[in-house]
Amino acid sequence: MPDKKIIAVIGATGAQGGGVVRAIVEDRDGPFAARAVTRKPDSEKARALAALGVEVVAGDADDPAGLDRAFAGAHGAFCVTNFWEHYSAERETAQATNMARASRKAGLKHVVWSTLEDTRKKVPLDDARLPTLQGKYKVPHFDSKGAADGAFAREAAPTTYLLAAFYWENFIYFGMGPRKTEGGAFTLALPLGGVKLPGIGAADIGKCAYGILRKGSATIGQRIGIAGEILSGAEMTAKVARAVGKKVEFFDMPFDVYRGLGFPGADDLGNMFKYQAILGDEFLRSRDVKASRELNPALLDFDAWLAANASRIPIE
Ligand SMILES: NC(=O)c1ccc[n+]([C@@H]2O[C@H](COP(=O)([O-])OP(=O)(O)OC[C@H]3O[C@@H](n4cnc5c(N)ncnc54)[C@H](OP(=O)(O)O)[C@@H]3O)[C@@H](O)[C@H]2O)c1
Repeated sequence: MPDKKIIAVIGATGAQGGGVVRAIVEDRDGPFAARAVTRKPDSEKARALAALGVEVVAGDADDPAGLDRAFAGAHGAFCVTNFWEHYSAERETAQATNMARASRKAGLKHVVWSTLEDTRKKVPLDDARLPTLQGKYKVPHFDSKGAADGAFAREAAPTTYLLAAFYWENFIYFGMGPRKTEGGAFTLALPLGGVKLPGIGAADIGKCAYGILRKGSATIGQRIGIAGEILSGAEMTAKVARAVGKKVEFFDMPFDVYRGLGFPGADDLGNMFKYQAILGDEFLRSRDVKASRELNPALLDFDAWLAANASRIPIE
């Protein structure tokens, strides 16, 4: 495949980047070849990518020189950061800035940067509706990504900004699935404040990013928010109940209670849900299901995602 354009994929062993790699590999006659960038080329996940015929190279977002090597000779890149590995907003912004600078240094033609909103633009630090966290953030894992957008705008190769939605996989892996109550019934508890939640199957994020890379220069500078479906808590719960074959009720947990649950990042996520409720329809408009399906015709709605994944939701 000597004539294929290389897309260097950060996070290739993870959910978002893994979806980008699979989308490239599955489009056998497509224009791109994936280069998986990982800190651990010997890991099982990296070896599984190599077994698919994907080029695997070492690279670390904390190490600019390594990024230079990882991006060398590529046409484009998919860039994502993993806040939940270290919980530091400043480190996440620094990692993203390293990637932005490396993309220009390597002369890439197109970058897709997986960002999120800097919530402080709508809810400034002196707004008491959201407690300030880590000294200068409202929703650290959003703000830190949004804070890096300027580096992509000013210091990176031409960039498209991709804004993902709540992964439905959070019902499997992140402890947000239904819980048994004392009476034996199941409750799905999320702090939504009565508003709907844009959601998406994680694999569809990479497929949408691939659609953006295929569209190429027409998308540069755009902010593209994606979702598979936008549903209320009661609607999601009814679908989960049907799919798992149990009685499940929705509990719209107060934001303060959620923030106080005590798991790492509970305050950040509580603020994230409240931010979405504060913005209301404006937040829902920022994630467009129709545009997502145009980028990725195989996009799953929640029922389709449940048909494939409900058996993985822990419920007992
Ligand atoms: N969960 C949600 O609902 C949701 C919704 C929207 C956005 N997000 C955002 O998604 C991001 C995580 O993406 P994901 O779900 O795809 O992650 P993931 O599945 O947990 O995988 C993390 C990936 O990041 C790579 N990585 C981490 N640190 C790195 C570094 N210093 N240098 C190079 N690669 C590094 C890892 O690669 P190696 O270990 O192989 O190096 C791995 O491939 C988070 O920042 C989160 O805020 C999540």
